[in-house]
Order: sequence, then structure tokens, then C-alpha cells
Amino acid sequence: MAIEKTIYVGPFIHCESLTELDIAVNGMIGVGEDGKIAFVLRDVEGRQIPAQAGWEQAKVVRTPEYGFFFPGFIDTHIHASQYPNAGVFGKSTLLDWLNTYTFPLESSFSDLEKAARIYNRVVARTLSHGTTMACYYATVHVPATNLLADVCQSKGQRAFVGRVCMDRMSPDYYRDESVESAVTATRQCIDHIRKIDPEFDLVTPIITPRFAPSCTDETLKALGDLHHETGVPCQTHVSENKAECQLVKDLFPHSLSYTHVYDEAGLLTPKTILAHAVHLTKDERALIKQRQAKISHCPASNTALTSGTAKVRTMLDEGLTVGLGTDVSGGYTSSLLAEAREAIFVSRHVAMTDGDDAKLSVEEALYLATRGGAKVVGLEDRIGGFEVGKDWDAQMVSLSNVGDAMHLDQEAGLVEVFGGESWDDKVAKWVYTGDDRNTQAVWVKGKLVHQRAGFKP
Ligand code: GUN
Ligand code: FE
Repeated sequence: MAIEKTIYVGPFIHCESLTELDIAVNGMIGVGEDGKIAFVLRDVEGRQIPAQAGWEQAKVVRTPEYGFFFPGFIDTHIHASQYPNAGVFGKSTLLDWLNTYTFPLESSFSDLEKAARIYNRVVARTLSHGTTMACYYATVHVPATNLLADVCQSKGQRAFVGRVCMDRMSPDYYRDESVESAVTATRQCIDHIRKIDPEFDLVTPIITPRFAPSCTDETLKALGDLHHETGVPCQTHVSENKAECQLVKDLFPHSLSYTHVYDEAGLLTPKTILAHAVHLTKDERALIKQRQAKISHCPASNTALTSGTAKVRTMLDEGLTVGLGTDVSGGYTSSLLAEAREAIFVSRHVAMTDGDDAKLSVEEALYLATRGGAKVVGLEDRIGGFEVGKDWDAQMVSLSNVGDAMHLDQEAGLVEVFGGESWDDKVAKWVYTGDDRNTQAVWVKGKLVHQRAGFKP
């Protein structure tokens, strides 16, 4: 469907830097038929649309009172196939969690009808949380993985879609049979996305060795070769849990570290996304920085599976590129807003032992959820903020309808509820008490991809 030239009128907020928000209370953003931002005005008196040659007939979308536009969230690590298990993990830790909860569920995606139900649901749900881009892990099944790519395409969500490779330490009922089968199946998924989206404009395939313990040296190497041959990005897990780290030491006795295992296979590059990174050594972080590989921080999952507390401040100070990942269903939530909150609270737990400097601010968490994520996926020139030439990947947030601190008080009226608060306070209230009910509408590349009941575009 063609995109109508549209002027978005109302406050807009995006991240200026890691620590600063840019809040334009009297904002106005013009988005062209190509879905890209054509102009950005910051000080529009009385929300009156100034004459813009060629924009006289443009559609106008206004925020409600106490609403604002914000860049879409980028979830840099989520297992779409594990969505039915969100919230179900008991007291397990990573390795027994995989065997108890995860492999049985993922193996059931041989049933394409089930896969269709779940994948449609997870994409719709993440869109409703304002997630305009997600880096998905699917399962080993080629038809179901291709179906996930189709669902992202048809619902209009920007996505990396990865077929999971695992040819050892995996159950008989759920595994790759050989190096060749892992590579062939991955190629089939790359070819499928090339057919539905030849330029990888919206949906991009991603090479996905599950993690070092579930891949033989040969498979890691073959996937590294494929990564270099195709230029397709790569995602995996690193240094999530102590038992897993010990397992990697045992399985790869000749490698200097967990990170080196990927490096030796040619899988540590600027297009590699490493999830968790909880127990990395200083040398590993230096190697990741040298290779310009990226980090997906998954705080909800790291707490749920008691994996540990990733040292985000240290990674940022050392110059690593970090984004946020929900890691459903290690993580219990598919909301990146909730994940941002988790990132803040985990950082406060780190601060209780390492000192106050470890604390992440609201601004920093939002940066990780938008600009940081954009860098992780290598699309910082296209998404993550509101600059001319970027794609309109955005959400419209309303503070006037729901949330602990924001509910419409019929007696007192909104003015009482919001009396005297700064915009910084409003943003903090959104981050700490908001949810998908605040997300009124979501756009990707200028196209409306989600709207709440009652929203009138
Ligand atoms: N390591 C290997 N597989 C997984 C997975 O599915 N989730 C998480 N959190 N870690 C993993
Ligand atoms: Fe994961």
C-alpha cells in the first residue's frame, strides 16, 4: 500500500546522545511517500502547520494531549519460537532450562500451523509494544523459519530472521544431523528471504549458530565461511552462564576464551550480535571491540535464569556497542519498555557492589533501546532517531490514558495529575509505569503497522 505524505504534529522525543534526550515540545515532522523523514521542525507556534511548499495536501497526524512521538524500539535478541514459554522457567538455570523447557517447545515447530499461530502472535504483540525491529531466532525448521520471515514482511515489522543451527549436545529429537544440513538449511532460509525481499529492505536473514556448545568446530567454521561469503549478519549467545562458560572451556580446550571460539571460526565481525556477555573477561571485551562485534544486553533473562549481572557501564566505558534484547523466553517479557526498566534495575544491583557509576539512567536505557540497538543491527543511518533522511520507524505514546502515575483522574482532571511535572518526569513515568496501552500507534518505514483501538490516524 502506498504511503501518504504525512505531517506528524506534536512533541517528539529522541536520544541526542547516550545521556541526553532531545525533547521538542512544539515539534512537527514531515514524512514523504518513501517513508523517510523529509523535514523536522522544532518550534512550531501553537501547533499551527507552517506553509511548506508541496505539503499543502499532506495528511496530518496529531498526538493527543500528553502524547509524544518516540523512535520505534529495536529488540536485538528475541526467540520468536519461545514465545509460548514467556514467564515459564521455574528455578531452572540455562543448561537445564534448555533441556526442560526450550528444546521440547522449539521442536514442535515442525507443525507449520502451530508455527503460524505463534509467529503471527509474537510479531503482532511486539509491534504493539512499539518494537519496530526485532532480531529473531526461529528454530531448526526451514519451513517455519521462512514463515516467520513472511509474517514479518506481511505485518510490516523490520526484522532479522535466523534459522537456528545446532549439531551437537542437542537432543536426538531436535538437532542438525550434520555440518552440511546446517549450512544447506541456512542457505535455504537466506534464499527464501532473497525472494520475498531481494534488497533485504525490511527482512534480512541472519546466520544463527545457537551457541558454541551446540555447534561442532566444523559447523562453526562452515557458518563463519557462509557469513563471509554472503555478507549476511550473524547472531549467537556468549558467556551467559558460568556452567556454560566451563562447558565451552571443556569443549574447546585449544581456544583462549569463549569469544575466541567464535573469532577462530570467522564469526566475530562488525555484523555479529552477541547476546548476554555476562561473564566476559577484559581480554574478551577487548577482542570484541577490536572486531567491532556488537552486544545485546538481556537483563530480564539474566535475572530470570540467574545467569548473572552484565556490566553494561564497563562495556559502554570501554567503547563496546550495546543494545537491549528481551531474550524471550529466557526473558519473561516481549516489551522492550519493560526490558529498559530491567536494564535500569539490574544496573542498580550492580551499583550496590561496584559503586554508583554503574547506574543506568532513564535516558541511557532509552538510548540502548533505540540508537544503541540501531548501531547493533548496523542501521544507525536509517533508524533509531528523528533526522531528515531516516526512515519513519516510530511510535506515538500517550500518557493521558493509563499507567500508575498517569491515569485520567475524572475528579481532579489531568492538569492536577500532571501539575508541574517536567517533560523529563513524564518520560520517566512512561519508562517506569508505562506499558503497551500507552503505545497508541506504530509506524515502520512510514507505514502504520499497529494502532490501539480508538486511535484515529
Ligand atoms: N543459549 C543457547 N540457547 C539459548 C536460548 O535459547 N536462550 C538463551 N537465553 N540462551 C541460550
Ligand atoms: Fe537467547
